[in-house]
Amino acid sequence: MRNIMVTGGAGFIGSNLVRHLILNHPDYNIINVDALTYAGNLANLADIESNPAYRFVKADICDAQAISDIISRYNIDGIIHLAAETHVDRSIVDPLAFARTNMIGTLTLLNCAKDYWEKLPEGYNGKLFYHISTDEVYGSLLHDDPPFTEQTPYTPHSPYSASKAGSDHLVRAYHDTYGMPTLITNCSNNYGPYQFPEKLLPLVINNVRLHRPIPVYGKGDNVRDWLFVEDHARAIDLIFHKGKPGDTYNIGGNCEQRNIDIIRKVVATTDRLLGNPPGYSDSLITFVTDRKGHDLRYAINASKLTRQLGWKPLTSFDEGIERTVAWYLDNRQWLDNVTSGAYTEYYDKMYGRPTTTPQ
Ligand code: NAD
Ligand code: TYD
Repeated sequence: MRNIMVTGGAGFIGSNLVRHLILNHPDYNIINVDALTYAGNLANLADIESNPAYRFVKADICDAQAISDIISRYNIDGIIHLAAETHVDRSIVDPLAFARTNMIGTLTLLNCAKDYWEKLPEGYNGKLFYHISTDEVYGSLLHDDPPFTEQTPYTPHSPYSASKAGSDHLVRAYHDTYGMPTLITNCSNNYGPYQFPEKLLPLVINNVRLHRPIPVYGKGDNVRDWLFVEDHARAIDLIFHKGKPGDTYNIGGNCEQRNIDIIRKVVATTDRLLGNPPGYSDSLITFVTDRKGHDLRYAINASKLTRQLGWKPLTSFDEGIERTVAWYLDNRQWLDNVTSGAYTEYYDKMYGRPTTTPQ
């Protein structure tokens, strides 16, 4: 039996990961530690919450006392760290919240784990701190550039990606300075069930359903590399068990899409599954003022992970989009519950009315 702490397990990727671990590793205790910010929702785990191997503890990762108590009370062997502030647009409005959780929170976790593990008779033996990061730390690519590798220098541009880069450096520092067994993975954009509808895909699906404008930032020609969230959960499981401590692995979908293309595809799929005629919601697509400092392109070279550990994505883009749209339409109550009036006002304040049209 091993005791694994997952931070941020009530969020999008965290809840998919906790479900995956509970279903695939019955010999593990999973302790989900989450502060339940606007992005954390225990309803995401309603189907597994009564499993005896699952525990939820509400705590802020910046609270050293609370984190130390949890690590010693549950005799934690491994930490998979996902808790973070994650939305680039919010980071532009409130960068300090990102520095606090992503950097101070990660440092607090590292330090509490170090203090506990170093005092054990076995020390760091059999222990692991696995930090989940993003491809955004590598910065932005031009359309012709080769994809990011693990050797690409960090050049983050947004307060979000800069704070994630800072947290990655802190994790590496604990490995190099104290000998803590750590892993870092940098993954591309995820999509799938349980994603908060401020992120592109669920926002588009929700706005088609409610017949609201769909904001396309700038000209819609920014490129992201999309990965279905269950493929990310499988990669994390594999790397947690087989990854080389001290190493970094890129994870990606090998699936680059321009925003405008993915938006059109999701709009068409949502219309079809709602029974609307083709083209019914196309007029909702609205070009708005670009995001400040908007990164042009992210693309991941995940060949190290494929070569060394044999991972590759199993869900094709077409299948993933179909499953994702169907999930949100089958779970409209979930969408309504996480979408409050305040949330809509936040967007109205940030972007106002559409102001530009692409040439
Ligand atoms: P999310 O915003 O859906 O969830 C974040 C979770 O962290 C929430 O449950 C929230 O309550 C919790 N949290 C936030 N601040 C906290 C704090 N101070 N203490 C404890 N809990 C706190 O995020 P996500 O999209 O699931 O991303 C999870 C991780 O994966 C993040 O570290 C993110 O940087 C990384 N990542 C995300 C993507 C993506 O496309 N979503 C891609 C690559 C990497
Ligand atoms: P997002 O889901 O916020 O992820 P990230 O910024 O971390 O890549 O956005 C994905 C892309 O979609 C990004 O290029 C910004 C763009 N976008 C829009 O055009 N309209 C929107 O309403 C949102 C939320 C994002």
